[in-house]
Amino acid sequence: MDKLVIEGGVPLSGEIAVSGAKNAALPALAACLLTAEPVILDRIPQVRDIRTMLDLIGHIIGAEVSVEGGRVTIHSARIEHPEAPYELVKTMRASSLVLGPLVGRCGRARVSLPGGCAIGARPINLHVSGLERLGAEVRQEHGYIEAVAPHGLQGANVQFDRISVTGTEDLLMAAVLARGETVIENAAREPEVADLAALLAAMGAKIEGAGTSTIRVQGVAKLGGAEHTIIPDRIEAGTFLIGGALTGGDLTVRGCVPEHLRALIAKLQQAGVDVTEPSPDTLRVRVPGKLKNVDITTEEHPGFATDLQAQFMTLMTQAAGISFVTETIFENRFMHAQELARMGANIRLEGRQAIVAGPTPLSGAQVIASDLRASASLVLAGLAARGETVVDRVYHIDRGYEKIESKLAGAGARIRRETS
Ligand code: EPZ
Repeated sequence: MDKLVIEGGVPLSGEIAVSGAKNAALPALAACLLTAEPVILDRIPQVRDIRTMLDLIGHIIGAEVSVEGGRVTIHSARIEHPEAPYELVKTMRASSLVLGPLVGRCGRARVSLPGGCAIGARPINLHVSGLERLGAEVRQEHGYIEAVAPHGLQGANVQFDRISVTGTEDLLMAAVLARGETVIENAAREPEVADLAALLAAMGAKIEGAGTSTIRVQGVAKLGGAEHTIIPDRIEAGTFLIGGALTGGDLTVRGCVPEHLRALIAKLQQAGVDVTEPSPDTLRVRVPGKLKNVDITTEEHPGFATDLQAQFMTLMTQAAGISFVTETIFENRFMHAQELARMGANIRLEGRQAIVAGPTPLSGAQVIASDLRASASLVLAGLAARGETVVDRVYHIDRGYEKIESKLAGAGARIRRETS
């Protein structure tokens, strides 16, 4: 079980480069199942969740997947096993993203129910009801979802009861091969949805409105191969920007899309952080004075991203005053709070709200990561703390951050990985 050992107190400075977005790469990999032609994807981040998805796709197509650094080539000439087995899905719930493509491509899919995870129940009922609207017959048995559409899928109007990112992506991938038109209402507007639509369009799909709440799809009979470069990871970029502010440094994050981070940028500026855009794909943070308390409420994009909530909470422990952090997307996404408290933070939890009183000096401690973004917030806290912090269960971080310790060390952090 690897650990990250951090000696705090060093301001981050210089530059950090952003990798491709894990949450855009996962649906893009699943989309390769929709065609018998080869698809080439570039800027795929080399993180654990991607390896899990590549293993799953290799199992489904019964063939090797070609990986050369950040370039992945998937040739789904045949679908040997239209299924996502439990042993793979239990480690990554985004495996449910193969549901739509498999039903769309071969009229059937057997996908293990993901089960909950640390941050919440994480059901996929919206994915299932969307597929049923397109004519799939879905039943649940022995912990698996079995979906069949022996006569193919029929386009329909689908209204999402609540916004779901992978629910929207799953349905979009099912609709592109359905007969006729599908209209998805209350669709997720995340940039990762728009990136998936760009890949599908390159494969020959007919899609309008991706990135807005209403997506219109004209089904086509077949999709072809394509080559596509994944968008940069806005959550990784946001994590590093917060780290630069938290450590009082002067940090430039390169290879990002500032447009994807407007909500975070606005909150950082309210907190007294100087955020500039030296070029179209870079953001720079400096802290001229004291950090000020700021309230955040997580919302679907373009609101403040829930995946940056834990990191921003860490920042607010160093801000003067009371900050209210409200989490509206997941029911249990404050587990980092008690670990931050062990480092000296003053945080009170009241249901969906965390009340942070700052500034409180943080002192290094042994802490345990519970989920991907909580572990990132603990690494950031370690960078700002006095003394040594040891973050255990670093496999959480490795799910979504590529080479995090070398990237941070490259910006001056004293951080190393201990493999035990
Ligand atoms: C995606 O998860 C991201 N993962 C998550 O990132 C992110 O936190 C989340 O969107 C919200 O932005 C990927 O894209 C692979 P949802 P997803 O469906 O699609 C409920 C990370 O750290 N819901 O938008 O699973 C659900 O429980 C990860 O990179 C249903 O009730 O999230 C949640 O409360 C963590 N039924 C809310 O909707 C469903 O069928 C939003 O979930 C689906 C979701």
